[in-house]
Amino acid sequence: MPGHIPENILDDILSRVDIVEIIAGSLPLKRAGRNFKACCPFHHEKTASFMVSPDRQIYHCFGCGESGNAFKFLMRYERMDFPEAVETLAQKAGVILPKDESYEHQSGGQSTHLYKINELAANFYAHHLNSSEGLKAKDYLLKRGIKQETISALKLGLAPDKWDGLISYLRSKSISLNLLEKAGLVINKDGGGYYDRFRNRVIFPIFDLKERILGFGARVLDNNLPKYVNSPETPVYIKGKNLYGFNLAKDSIRDSDCVAIVEGYLDFLVPYQEGVKNIVASLGTALTIEQARLLKRYAHNVVMIYDADTAGEMATLRSLDIFIEEEMNVRIVSLPKGLDPDLFVRKHGVEAFKEMIVKAQNIFDYKLGVLKSRYNIKEIDDLAKVSSLMLETIAKFKNAVLKSEYLKKLAQGLNIKEEALLEEIKKVKTVKVSLNQHSAGIRKVSNVNPTEKLLMSLMLEENGLINRIKEALGPNDFQDERISRVVSIMFDLVGEGKKVEPQILMNHLGDDISELVCESVFLPQAQSDAHREKVVTDCIQRMKNESMKLERARLHEQIKIAQSSGDKERLEMLTQEFHSLIKTKAGKS
Ligand code: GTP
Ligand code: MN
Repeated sequence: MPGHIPENILDDILSRVDIVEIIAGSLPLKRAGRNFKACCPFHHEKTASFMVSPDRQIYHCFGCGESGNAFKFLMRYERMDFPEAVETLAQKAGVILPKDESYEHQSGGQSTHLYKINELAANFYAHHLNSSEGLKAKDYLLKRGIKQETISALKLGLAPDKWDGLISYLRSKSISLNLLEKAGLVINKDGGGYYDRFRNRVIFPIFDLKERILGFGARVLDNNLPKYVNSPETPVYIKGKNLYGFNLAKDSIRDSDCVAIVEGYLDFLVPYQEGVKNIVASLGTALTIEQARLLKRYAHNVVMIYDADTAGEMATLRSLDIFIEEEMNVRIVSLPKGLDPDLFVRKHGVEAFKEMIVKAQNIFDYKLGVLKSRYNIKEIDDLAKVSSLMLETIAKFKNAVLKSEYLKKLAQGLNIKEEALLEEIKKVKTVKVSLNQHSAGIRKVSNVNPTEKLLMSLMLEENGLINRIKEALGPNDFQDERISRVVSIMFDLVGEGKKVEPQILMNHLGDDISELVCESVFLPQAQSDAHREKVVTDCIQRMKNESMKLERARLHEQIKIAQSSGDKERLEMLTQEFHSLIKTKAGKS
């Protein structure tokens, strides 16, 4: 985990929140002895193997191995990144985080100001829409089927029909014109002076996942051009990083493991209002890899919904490949001519729209269909063109099974030999986009030495044992690398006079190791102090024997090498070492 947030602050936050309360907000927890359990939200199961320990403040699933502390739960379940999880819990705990570059975009202080200004502007526009001057615009929205609750939920507004509506309002709040310009809300006239960017337009604030306002879109109330005016890029509004409506849709996207993507504000608003909650809008631009990755944190299934005219464009087809590269499952809906999602829902109803989503075509069938309608595959040249365009997409599948099945399908669909396609696909250059590839978590089931594991969990259970074990064994006596690392951290913490709690250890450990720690918390514990005492003594003895055996074997091996190479000096030294090893270890135990 990132190290830039001081450990003691992380510890402090964790000690003030209750993981049971946090998880219970999302899952129905049932008491099970000292612990709580539920069906695991991270894999599919019918009997509960997801455990939460109120004593240890960690969770662990015995089915899939997913485990961690409160931060980790928010990261996995709410799909937050680490700083987001820390911020969320800090707020809950009433802990004030030190200002740190990594919490804010780029220049920390300025971003905060810009969000604040956007907030003030949005309130101003919303207020104006709801005032008597906003009646015409209100009427326009209602006529387009937008309900008042949607207007409120998305904080829609109206920019006054003036050159300085927003300027005079925000100047009265002592906001500098310089900052207003940085926020993209005003434009600097050539001859000096400023005027409002948005005038007499319906305002759509664009939120991020933290409900901060990044910028605005603004639509005319009639058929004037341009139809939309948008905020320029600013330090807080970086285009292609967000999706419109994501803040409202994220839970539904996660729960359904599916997201519908439309193009326009209205195409989001109307279906969303009518009950399609797992929807976002790309705002008329091609999707970026960043947007795809953002979505991937929430769902693996994507349904792109296009108007009939955009649907067939080559650029549109190419942009779909992003999802294949991200190993997401992408399907496409092409709406009947003349209808966008907004009009479709109003004309045919939301159920028909949902039906369209269910029946969306997979990318292979869709793309082949588009290409077949555009080229005449009875002509050999066209056939070659279509097959090479299809291969571009097929080459992007990372999964070899998918790749080979689609090749087979393509050979059938175009009635050509599969060998020819295999030959051709080798020529397709796949441009690798660099990314930190977290491949889907496959659980590593590894053999852990039971004695080592037992000692580790006893130390976690009873911190008093740590010093005692530290006197008898070193971290290197633990043969399992992961346990050795945990033990070494425990020894260090105790050396610094700190408490050793699993939930805090977690902040020092990678996922594979913390799984081991979390699991051990739920394993049967010692029945009594006397029992524990006996177990510890036995374990230490066994580990010493084991260590000695390994050390002996190692020396034996080296002695053999020294013998065969005739290195007498080294042989002498190793033999002495061998004898003293046997003496000391035997004497000590
Ligand atoms: P309505 O025409 O009111 O239904 O809006 P819409 O949201 O359906 O718009 P449309 O489908 O025409 O365009 C999709 C998206 O592209 C819009 O939501 C805007 O984000 C963007 N867009 C459309 N027209 C313009 C324009 O004139 N300028 C800019 N900058 N963006 C536009
Ligand atoms: Mn439209």
